[in-house]
Amino acid sequence: AAASPSTCASTHLLSRSYYSAGSYPERKVAILGAAGGIGQPLALLMKLNPFVSSLSLYDIANTPGVAADVSHINYPAQVAGYVGEEELGKALEGSDLVIIPAGVPRKPGMTRDDLFNINAGIVKSLCVAIAKYCPNALVNMISNPVNSTVPIAAEVFKKAGTYDEKKLFGVTTLDVVRAKTFYAGKAKVPVADVDVPVIGGHAGITILPLFSQATPKANLPDDDIEALTKRTQDGGTEVVEAKAGKGSATLSMAYAGAVFADACIKGLNGVPDIVECSFVQSSVTELPFFASQVKLGKNGVEKVYGLGLLSEFEKQGLEKLKPELKASIEKGIKFANQN
Ligand code: NAD
Ligand code: LMR
Repeated sequence: AAASPSTCASTHLLSRSYYSAGSYPERKVAILGAAGGIGQPLALLMKLNPFVSSLSLYDIANTPGVAADVSHINYPAQVAGYVGEEELGKALEGSDLVIIPAGVPRKPGMTRDDLFNINAGIVKSLCVAIAKYCPNALVNMISNPVNSTVPIAAEVFKKAGTYDEKKLFGVTTLDVVRAKTFYAGKAKVPVADVDVPVIGGHAGITILPLFSQATPKANLPDDDIEALTKRTQDGGTEVVEAKAGKGSATLSMAYAGAVFADACIKGLNGVPDIVECSFVQSSVTELPFFASQVKLGKNGVEKVYGLGLLSEFEKQGLEKLKPELKASIEKGIKFANQN
């Protein structure tokens, strides 16, 4: 792994200044689970992305309405809704990027792993279709438990002979979004200037924000760093509890998903120095999948960065997270090969 980059590329959604008409290739983006709590606002944000020429909205129900609604927004992307398994192939054909927020969300008292029994099967069948209809697409996996759904996708693609480790991403951007917001609040620095890498996985203690590498530097005391770390790790639970049975993060996730998708498309389009954290196939640690900063390029992952210098607290966090993350990865691999 290469050394850590000094800063992450910051992404400014909704800025038309990036765009000059006709200078970028056409890009088709498919969202699977597009009528859901994440899917709908994510469809809105992807419609606003000037690099998207075709937006394909797939779900098992309700996509015609979502597609009709989003299609009226005066941005270039052509929007189409597809509903039911018989339309999945059409939804996927020609896609450059497939974003997957399909599946059930948590209720209070549940862990992300409690979603495995339902979501593993959903993700598996969607990935079988991706291998068939758009084997070269980048895949952004949002469905939980990400620590297991990404390995499931990898196994499905391996079996189909289409696996390219550069093209499969677990979306951990919401952890970065939260770490930036919480750090800015505590350090009293402008949130737009903040960058914080988040490594590991996407569940509880497997989420490890590296506040020792946060910029701008703030020299916060240890107890503040510990509190910020815990709040970032429990950010999803904070929302699940506040929503009191009505699901998990949808709006902040749609934002985070749109930031990450935008970075993927910019990479495909050859925009230089696009760096985001993501859960990818990795040799940074002994685990086969791990989240760290990655550079995005024309073929997906161009470079997986190392972890850089960690504080003692972060080193301990890293050792603590490994057994849980390893078990979640192995659970996904086992499921994909047994079912
Ligand atoms: P939701 O229930 O509101 O929406 C899920 C959608 O998936 C529904 O519209 C449903 O019809 C659809 N769906 C179910 N089976 C499908 C299939 N086979 N094909 C296509 N669509 C299908 O849930 P949500 O709040 O949007 O959350 C979706 C998933 O995202 C959950 O697993 C949740 O835990 C996860 N999530 C991940 C992150 C992250 O940071 N990676 C953040 C928030 C939520
Ligand atoms: C999140 O981090 O908000 C998501 O993974 C949803 C959840 O279940 O917490």
